[in-house]
Amino acid sequence: MCGIIGYSGHRPAVPLLLEGLHRLEYRGYDSAGVAFEQGAHLQVVKAAGKLAALEEKLEKVPCMLATAGIGHTRWATHGLPVERNAHPHLSQGGGIAIIHNGIIENFQELKDELLARGHTFLSDTDTEVLAHLIGEERRMADNLGDAFARALRRAHGAYAVVMLAPEELGVIYAARMAAPLLMGVGTGEVFVASDIPAFLPYTREVVFLEDGEIARIEGGRWSVFSLADLSPVEKTVSHVPWDMQAAAKDGYRHFMLKEIMEQPRVIQDCLSGRITESASGHRVCLRELDGLPVPERLHIVACGTSYNAGLWGRQLLEHTGGIPTDLDIASEFRYRDPLLRPQDMVLVISQSGETADTLAALRLAREKGCKVIGLCNVLGSSIAREADVVLYTQAGPEISVASTKAMCSQMTLLALIALYYGQRRQPACADPELLEAIMGLPVLLAGALPAMRQKAEALAVRFSSARSFFYLGRGQYYALALEGALKLKELSYIHAEGYASGEMKHGPIALIDPAFPTFALALDNALFPKVKSNIQEVLARQGRVIALVQERDGKAPDLEVEEMWVLPEAHPVAASFLALPALQLFSYHVADYLGKDVDQPRNLAKSVTVE
Ligand code: F6R
Repeated sequence: MCGIIGYSGHRPAVPLLLEGLHRLEYRGYDSAGVAFEQGAHLQVVKAAGKLAALEEKLEKVPCMLATAGIGHTRWATHGLPVERNAHPHLSQGGGIAIIHNGIIENFQELKDELLARGHTFLSDTDTEVLAHLIGEERRMADNLGDAFARALRRAHGAYAVVMLAPEELGVIYAARMAAPLLMGVGTGEVFVASDIPAFLPYTREVVFLEDGEIARIEGGRWSVFSLADLSPVEKTVSHVPWDMQAAAKDGYRHFMLKEIMEQPRVIQDCLSGRITESASGHRVCLRELDGLPVPERLHIVACGTSYNAGLWGRQLLEHTGGIPTDLDIASEFRYRDPLLRPQDMVLVISQSGETADTLAALRLAREKGCKVIGLCNVLGSSIAREADVVLYTQAGPEISVASTKAMCSQMTLLALIALYYGQRRQPACADPELLEAIMGLPVLLAGALPAMRQKAEALAVRFSSARSFFYLGRGQYYALALEGALKLKELSYIHAEGYASGEMKHGPIALIDPAFPTFALALDNALFPKVKSNIQEVLARQGRVIALVQERDGKAPDLEVEEMWVLPEAHPVAASFLALPALQLFSYHVADYLGKDVDQPRNLAKSVTVE
């Protein structure tokens, strides 16, 4: 969602703010703006649309020597994505500028109060109300920091907010409540941002702000206070191991393509340190889980692609891990009043670690006395910090809005968790063949990816004119069918539905005609005859079919369809790790061929920090 960057240091702030905003573009946005000090005044420049529009406007602003400033990319919640609603927003009279990510739930009530006091508003946003409220509180407060805290104490909802006011030259204030915000501490300079990549070229020393904390930053100095009573809070500086290369395109046209192609390395990194060798063979070692009992029942909760990863992992957790496993979409979980017993455990899966619904599900589970395992990618994210135990997927920064390598790493880790619980139930490894197959994935995938990319590109050209697509799969491939459909629709805006193959004849088959192709996942050798029958049913209704299959004994299986995409023979679980990039590459190439904005699809945000 909205991207936030603030800077106070010794260099010109505006270029750094723009650079930071570019690095946060992946979060999704529809307008942008910056505020900085121009002499003793605030200069605010904003524009609807992409950052290029903002940069064009800034070229006309003379003498931008400020060494403190704030910048924002907005993903519209309250009010249209137009310039007047872009951040920063100013207080009445213009002495205070703020940027904000989140939603102030009681903004209407506060706005009515301020209107009654004679305030006038220039935008439709909840953020402007907050800016005015800070200005109003400033009249009663001892100082700017106090006014900031007083206003925030009256605001209900979620926020990451950063403030700049010439009253304290060179100073920025930042506060966090249920929305991501962290500081990057450099030499003689401090950044505040929604996410680490915003300042990664300058520092890897990070201070994670907690809910209810306020930071005051001035040049290279920073301090943190409690929002409740402004008492000082001790913080530690953490070093993040991410490097710039991990957050760069590395010669690829898009981050998404780079992230798909780096999946062999992602699996390797995810396995790193988690498999040990002893006289009796390899074993999975997940020390983070050693202190928790084996759950009697596991509830997986996640959204979007992370949910699809959970659906894929459920079968392994039940069969290999021996743990009865339920699965919920996070936004449904919280409102269905789930029956949770203290001996159950909840596994929340989230790449960003900030998804509002998943975070709320985690809190609900903890309230009900369950232990929560977080499966996250982003270090120090809210879910990572609030879970009882966190297992990091170690996939490195995922910049493309559409999640790819994160799902691959989540699947890897879910397989390891299943094996780990299997081991805890029996002294020997639960399924040595599966573990060997997982260990062989980086090599298998690295060998297969180049040819898959070529095939995906050729298919994309042939099928890009379709208006709708079915994705069919059974067993674990049902989860991948859902993921294939999700990727196609979010990237290319082509309607796509993922179905369990066997469900087709219960209704959806009515849609089949020559203009509604089907992408059939027919990789499961045990279920192949069943999937083949489902494909025949589609063919009998003049449906076009792409079948993703795997070789058997060096040969393609017996199937007559318009397009057969043959993958190398692999262990049944490993075949999913081949199917996943095949689906991702197909969607990528369709979207690219159609000229879509692959890394930043319309209307989407990378981390969904509102309900
Ligand atoms: C799809 C996609 C989303 C996310 C979902 C959950 O490509 O990226 O569906 O998977 O918003 O995000 P996380 O995993 O960050 O909780």
